[in-house]
Amino acid sequence: MTDFDPKIPSTTESGAPRESDAHSLSIGADGPLLLHDANLVEKLARFDRERVPERSPHAKGSGAFGVLEVTEDVSKYTKADLFQPGRKTPMVQRFSTVAGELGSPDTWRDVRGFSMKFYTQEGNYDLVGNNTPVFFVRDPMKFPDFIHSQKRLPDSGLRSNTMQWDFWTSVPESAHQVTYVMGDRGLPKSWRHMNGYGSHTYMWINESGEKFWVKYHFHTDQGMEFLSNEEADRLAGVDGDYHRRDLFESIAQGDFPSWTLSVQVIPYEDAKTYRFNIFDLTKTVPHSDYPLIKVGTVTLNENPTNHFAQIEQAAFSPSNTVPGIGLSPDKMLLGRSFSYPDAQRNRIGTNFNQLPVNRPIVPTNSYDKEGAMEFFHSGDQPVYAPNSYGRKYQNEQGPVDNGWEADGEMVRAAYSLHAEDGDFVQPGIMVREVLDDASRERLVETVSGGLSTVEEPVLSNAIQYWKNIDQNIGERIEKAIGTVAADDQPGGDPLDA
Ligand code: HEM
Repeated sequence: MTDFDPKIPSTTESGAPRESDAHSLSIGADGPLLLHDANLVEKLARFDRERVPERSPHAKGSGAFGVLEVTEDVSKYTKADLFQPGRKTPMVQRFSTVAGELGSPDTWRDVRGFSMKFYTQEGNYDLVGNNTPVFFVRDPMKFPDFIHSQKRLPDSGLRSNTMQWDFWTSVPESAHQVTYVMGDRGLPKSWRHMNGYGSHTYMWINESGEKFWVKYHFHTDQGMEFLSNEEADRLAGVDGDYHRRDLFESIAQGDFPSWTLSVQVIPYEDAKTYRFNIFDLTKTVPHSDYPLIKVGTVTLNENPTNHFAQIEQAAFSPSNTVPGIGLSPDKMLLGRSFSYPDAQRNRIGTNFNQLPVNRPIVPTNSYDKEGAMEFFHSGDQPVYAPNSYGRKYQNEQGPVDNGWEADGEMVRAAYSLHAEDGDFVQPGIMVREVLDDASRERLVETVSGGLSTVEEPVLSNAIQYWKNIDQNIGERIEKAIGTVAADDQPGGDPLDA
């Protein structure tokens, strides 16, 4: 039975206070409803499933338990309990590859997932990021197409470089993330040797109600290290679980990996005029404009005792926020806030939040009832709100403290462009100014190797795509493909046959 106290407000299933049991979030009292109203979406989606697959993306992974220790004072930016000075918050973390299936090798070139669930005193806070600070697309409408293009062909069930490059070159906003994944970060030596990023811009709110935009950075204390293409291919053959094994064995031996958490804090008003649109997930915010502010350290110090129960059934979602933290106008983030709990109701079951790995450490107190596998319940307490007997009736009205202004007509459109926005601007800077000669050479080798199996017209589109990023790198890739194609690929793309 759920602990019951009539003075405690009703909560979301993640244990955070519900803003309202009575009112949906709308643009003005008479206006349309908003998809990121997690209170409403959770309530309806949960209701829809009152009468149990692998994760669709990020199927292969593993993780461990640990602690976030706050060593600095960032309380002037957020009132969130987990970020208060000296606080130690227990957590679970999962690492993953994006495109591969449950049994796929850990060392295939890919972005790596970096998911964290913090068991805070105000409900669970989840950060579900990657080992890169940007993403392939900027509108949730494109996400299923992106994942389809990275998975398998409908007829043969084979993976296809042509399909992958067809999608990327048809969606130029992918250029920044493709440059990351074709570079060293696409092949981390281990999960311990990579950074993690919240990627999106999030909101922090302090005790006075002041709002800030923040970007999370988790820098590995082990140092960034990478695999070569040859070593990754070899490991994929001899030990498909190379990264899973590395993490488990390190922790078992008492060699606990850690990451330093820093944030970039962007004053609320700056977002409107800053040279890049900070809500566009294909962009980074240069540290020279908004420097890193240290917060604390994440340390993983405890292995799972049951991989399935504690890692496979773990359910992370960007919609699990706590007081002092909010979402942002990033459309990807808003789309994700619906998709994860929905996938988890399907993948694990309606009551997935009742499993020990997902259950908050604070009591939950909701009107949700029944559904497959219900274990915790509120006994004979009323199952409707309002009522004359049970929990305090939540009825907040007016502006929400983690909200932002929205106005204007309904449209289907790309983001408004800021002064220096452009799909090829930041990837071009990365190739020319961030990479050194050796990394540029490895980039040319990796891209030309992958493209050597790609069919026309996608091949020509891909060469042009790289010339758009940087003319010189595009020409080097074109030249290298000429060599590879002549030497090694007389029969075209074997994967597409
Ligand atoms: C997993 C959807 C964008 C990182 C998932 C899952 C879904 C999903 C349905 C499986 C969840 C589960 O079964 O538990 C989406 C949608 C997106 C999106 C609809 C865009 C609109 C992103 C972005 C990132 C990301 C931008 C990183 C910045 C992850 C990670 C996981 C994941 C790390 C694995 C979570 C875990 O460890 O359990 N995504 N995703 N996704 N996604 Fe996304």
